[in-house]
Parts: sequence; C-alpha cells; structure tokens
Amino acid sequence: MKRVITYGTFDVLHFGHINLLKRAKALGDYLIVALSSDEFNLIKNKKSYYTYEQRKSILEACRYVDLVIPENNWEQKIDDVKKYQADVFVMGDDWKGKFDFLKDYCEVIYLPRTPEVSSTQTRSYLKSGNEGI
Ligand code: CTP
Repeated sequence: MKRVITYGTFDVLHFGHINLLKRAKALGDYLIVALSSDEFNLIKNKKSYYTYEQRKSILEACRYVDLVIPENNWEQKIDDVKKYQADVFVMGDDWKGKFDFLKDYCEVIYLPRTPEVSSTQTRSYLKSGNEGI
C-alpha cells in the first residue's frame, strides 16, 4: 500500500483543494491530510472561517481523504512521515522547494496550484457581504 501525506488549512474547501486532493490520492492508495490546528493557524497569522473540527469533518467527507491528523507545528513533518509510513509527501507548488529536506525520508512532489481560487479570496467574499466579486 502506497501512502501519501499532505498539509494545509483547507478552510472553506474549494475546487483548488479538491484538485490537489484528487491528484494527491492518485499518487498512491491512502491519503493522509495533516490539517492545521486553530492554534497553529494563529502562529501562522491565519484565522480560518471554520474551526478545526468543522474543517476536519468536511475533509473526512471527501472521497479522496482516508485520514485527517492535526498539524500543530512546523517541525512535525519528519516524525509524521515516519509514524504514518508515508511514501510520498505532496504540496501545491506555492511551497516548491520548501520541504525538500523530506527527500531523505520519502518522495517529495509539488503539484501545480489551481489558478484564481483561494481560501483568502472566499473568506473576503464572505466578509464583504458578497459584494465585489
Ligand atoms: N492549493 C492548490 N490550489 C489552490 C489553492 C490551494 O493547489 N488554488 C493547495 C495548496 O498548494 C496546498 C493545499 O491546497 O497544497 C492547501 O492549501 P491552503 O493553504 O489550505 O489553501 P489556500 O486556498 O491557498 O489558502 P489561503 O488563501 O488561506 O492561503
């Protein structure tokens, strides 16, 4: 069984996320998503629209996702890859090169990001009272 792992906040799930998850799952048989906790989002200066538990239950309903685990800090990736026996680490190419240190432990793949959609854009649309887009 080939295991794939990916990381992110996945707030207000959008088709860019689905494209990423679909291609990540196609690289193996089992997809693990390490989902940013609300506390880790604060450290990253991010505030999600949905809570961790809400984002987790949405991701768990996605057919491409087999397991959701929390991402609590920047340093846990090597331990996660070992613990969950990940063969492949996948991220969108906005992170290109940033996680190459994981190449000592597994394959590292950066997938092209889907253009013109992001959680930030959706959140500002929700905040604006749906004006302006
Ligand atoms: N992603 C993607 N295409 C997009 C948006 C995100 O492929 N249009 C990928 C990212 O590269 C990452 C994963 O989806 O691998 C989770 O991204 P996340 O940061 O949660 O989503 P964004 O929409 O980029 O969120 P934000 O606007 O808050 O940065």
